[in-house]
Amino acid sequence: MENNSLKYGYAQALSYSNAIAEIFYSVMKKKYPLDREIKSYFRKHDECGSKDRFVITESLFSLFRWYGWVKGKLPGGQPENSLKSKKFCVGLSAALWLDNQPFAQFMEMLYDVAEVETTWLQVSPEVIEDKIKGLSYSFKIRKCDVLDLIPEWFKKEISSDDDLVAMIRLLQKRSPVWIRIQNYSQELVLKELGALGVDLCQHKMVSNAFKVSAGKFNAKDVEAYKNGLFEIQDLASQCLGLVCEVRADQSWWDVCAGAGGKSLLLADQMKGQGRIIATGNRKEIEKRATRANFKNIQIEDLDKVILSQDSFDGVLVDAPCSCTGVWRRNPDLRWTSFEDVCERSACVQKEILEFACKKVKEGGVLVYATCSVSVQENEGVVTHFLKMFPEFELEDFIHPFTGKSTGGMIRVKFDPDDCDATFAARFRRK
Ligand SMILES: C[S@@+](CC[C@H](N)C(=O)[O-])C[C@H]1O[C@@H](n2cnc3c(N)ncnc32)[C@H](O)[C@@H]1O
Repeated sequence: MENNSLKYGYAQALSYSNAIAEIFYSVMKKKYPLDREIKSYFRKHDECGSKDRFVITESLFSLFRWYGWVKGKLPGGQPENSLKSKKFCVGLSAALWLDNQPFAQFMEMLYDVAEVETTWLQVSPEVIEDKIKGLSYSFKIRKCDVLDLIPEWFKKEISSDDDLVAMIRLLQKRSPVWIRIQNYSQELVLKELGALGVDLCQHKMVSNAFKVSAGKFNAKDVEAYKNGLFEIQDLASQCLGLVCEVRADQSWWDVCAGAGGKSLLLADQMKGQGRIIATGNRKEIEKRATRANFKNIQIEDLDKVILSQDSFDGVLVDAPCSCTGVWRRNPDLRWTSFEDVCERSACVQKEILEFACKKVKEGGVLVYATCSVSVQENEGVVTHFLKMFPEFELEDFIHPFTGKSTGGMIRVKFDPDDCDATFAARFRRK
């Protein structure tokens, strides 16, 4: 019996570690997003149940989150049998230990192959300096520095005012889930999620933003979600809606609407009235707007809006960017982004602002936003824009989190509100 369970445990650990290795090396080689590769793997491997998916997915996130420290131990390419590769098992088990993953049986198997000293490995300490000691003692991974947890090129992208080490410490934490309650449904949403054992914590300033502080749920199974009463949306994104300061009698253009997250947010703030033209992923926006019963969102093709005579009270450019502000949520991006990603993003951002600003009415508002912490994508693009378009000026607004005056720009950097990083600038056309 014991033998059988050991054999089963080994077979399961082998299938986990092979899946992790396959996906990890594929992401590193192709530079595709991790979540996309995970989805594609599970589509091909429908034998994986929900627990298997959880272990594989979580392990991959740990591996990318701590890659900067464990990369020296990992083999250069995918090992044929990952549970026979001591190097792979050292690297993977160290990452799982650093992240305090609860997969005891799987980790035991990895420790065994890795020949690590397990005496002190019950729990990974919270403090990063103590983690470094554990790595050195048990995994023989030495000379770890906090700065190794990000790529070298990133250091020149941030402001000299930023405390890089403090920023990286925050990057190593896991992202919480935030929801945005819409359609005035707080009571209903809190009741249903509460009954599912989910604890929610309301943000002190953004009244529709709630952080999931305990419990788990699959939104697709929740009635309130199916009825459009809430969306999963990071607090940083919710903050942008407040920077726009929309009114119910206005018309807005959401230029880079993507899947429509901000369009929905603005539509809710406009109480289902006014008009929002969204240029993005038609199918996705339509699905979400229908679910929320927002009749004030109109989905259009980008070229059609650019060529039209339309102008708007407000234009939101939630620009494509390097995504350095979501590195905590997507740790793979630190290692798969090209080192000129901020420079290339800044060029695209300038181009988008150039055509988008022409559609702002006289006296109207333009909001420029990124989920980047790069100076050249944020303040750099703003300076360039003001030089090219002197008919616009920065307009002061109140910081949605602090209630203080901003001078026209905000930079949200993970803490103290436990959200992604974001940047926003608000301009007024004179
Ligand atoms: C930061 S995302 C927008 C997220 C979206 N606003 C939301 O809240 O879900 C940027 C979007 O800009 C789109 N995009 C990329 N290049 C663009 C361009 N040249 N003009 C307009 N949109 C562009 C991308 O497809 C992406 O969906």
